[in-house]
Amino acid sequence: MLHTVTLALPLLALAASVAARLPDGRLHANMPPLPVLKPFALPINERKQHTRTGAPLPPLNTTYYFDQLIDHNNPSLGTFKQRYWHTWEFYEHGGPIILMTPGEGNADGYTGYLTNSTINGRIAQQENGATIVIEHRYYGLSNPYPDLTVASLKYHTIQQAIEDLVYFADTVKLPMPGGDKVAPGQAPWVLIGGSYSGALTAWTKINKPHTFWAGYASSAVVESITDFWQYFDPIRQFMPKNCSADVEAVIQHWDAVYASGNTSAFNALKDQYGMSDVVHPDDVTGALRNNLWDWQSLSPTTGHNQLFWQFCDALEVKDGKSANASGWGVDHALAAWGTYFKNTYLPQLCGGQDAETCVGTYDASQSEWTSTEVDDANRSWYWIVCNEVGWFQDAAPVGAPSLVSQLLQPSGDEASLSH
Ligand SMILES: *[C@@H]1O[C@H](CO)[C@@H](O)[C@H](O)[C@H]1NC(C)=O
Ligand SMILES: *[C@@H]1O[C@H](CO)[C@@H](O)[C@H](O)[C@H]1NC(C)=O
Ligand SMILES: *[C@@H]1O[C@H](CO)[C@@H](O)[C@H](O)[C@H]1NC(C)=O
Ligand SMILES: *[C@@H]1O[C@H](CO)[C@@H](O)[C@H](O)[C@H]1NC(C)=O
Ligand SMILES: *[C@@H]1O[C@H](CO)[C@@H](O)[C@H](O)[C@H]1NC(C)=O
Ligand SMILES: *[C@@H]1O[C@H](CO)[C@@H](O)[C@H](O)[C@H]1NC(C)=O
Repeated sequence: MLHTVTLALPLLALAASVAARLPDGRLHANMPPLPVLKPFALPINERKQHTRTGAPLPPLNTTYYFDQLIDHNNPSLGTFKQRYWHTWEFYEHGGPIILMTPGEGNADGYTGYLTNSTINGRIAQQENGATIVIEHRYYGLSNPYPDLTVASLKYHTIQQAIEDLVYFADTVKLPMPGGDKVAPGQAPWVLIGGSYSGALTAWTKINKPHTFWAGYASSAVVESITDFWQYFDPIRQFMPKNCSADVEAVIQHWDAVYASGNTSAFNALKDQYGMSDVVHPDDVTGALRNNLWDWQSLSPTTGHNQLFWQFCDALEVKDGKSANASGWGVDHALAAWGTYFKNTYLPQLCGGQDAETCVGTYDASQSEWTSTEVDDANRSWYWIVCNEVGWFQDAAPVGAPSLVSQLLQPSGDEASLSH
């Protein structure tokens, strides 16, 4: 989310058939995609390893289990199994122990973060360290209770997550040779994270300064911001100028039609965008944010044919020519966005679902709000969003340039997310 612009990558697909998912794995199309680190599992032929001295190592994907306290304020509640992955390929006595959680996702599939394909392993390689990837509580299969009901989520807080990292470092007997003699104080522990887990790294260093010798926080989103309209601002500034000018003009037009109170004009717009069945106006204009959320899937390696570029091309290329920096203006852009949204984008976004099911947020009986199975990163993540971090991605203040409709305000997000 915040990670200020580009990071934020899709999360791994999971077995749990929780709810009627969108093709992109989200619960719902009026919720931002999760900002979780990209999974990074090594190909099978690179998973077999040995130490520098030639001693064989277990396969990288070997899963270990740690008995983690359910409630750090009340250890008598008992423990749950927290999954982790670990290697000592580069370890030599005196080297650091490098710990990372991918944060808000199932942590299976992150074994690349054990190896020197990542900064974690590069540090281990250089400093003779060992690496660990640990699954965050309430994600994947690391759950205090067998479901994600509100009662079970009671111990899903950032403070408990911080204390998990500390308790793990203080208590674990690592399965490597000498792994019972590397507690903090005996070996330097280094905590690494990116995006939310980068923030968690920074918060851990401040909140519990004595366990980790160093922290490495990448794209860390350390501030909680309820009305995080600025999420869209770097997109507005750095996307093609013609495209941002036209998006702004189209959104202003939608808002003006809504404000005019002319229901038949608003309905005509909904129809033009393939959302005639969507009941609530904020769900309709909110759905248009999807084209902008696609920005966060861009990275230097993703190439040109990404959804975000397809979107801008749909608005800005007319008869083989693209608009200058001012865009084509609202008349062309409104129609071009409508055609693209209705015929190409929305069907892709929603799969077989009708638009109201896909983008409507008012029906509390939909399975995305009611399903409580574990391994549902979206549900676990939105619990933290609502309770602790906010980061609602809505309209800019009135008067500031906005790519997002004024109908989108944090109060609406809070209402739908707390169904
Ligand atoms: C949650 O959302 C992400 C995209 O934001 C998706 O990739 C993932 O598969 C979703 N589902 C689960 C169960 O985590
Ligand atoms: C590890 O990967 C191998 C090869 O893909 C697979 O056969 C094995 O089941 C995996 N083990 C675990 C614990 O996932
Ligand atoms: C990474 O480690 C492997 C051994 O696992 C080694 O062969 C390779 O040279 C290392 N890569 C770099 C860039 O140091
Ligand atoms: C409402 O908008 C429609 C165009 O969609 C227009 O024909 C009609 O005159 C408008 N009504 C009023 C009262 O402005
Ligand atoms: C106009 O839009 C096209 C198509 O998306 C883009 O390739 C081009 O860079 C944009 N030009 C300007 C000046 O914004
Ligand atoms: C863009 O083109 C329009 C005509 O289509 C023209 O009026 C305008 O001045 C041009 N803007 C820029 C920045 O070149």
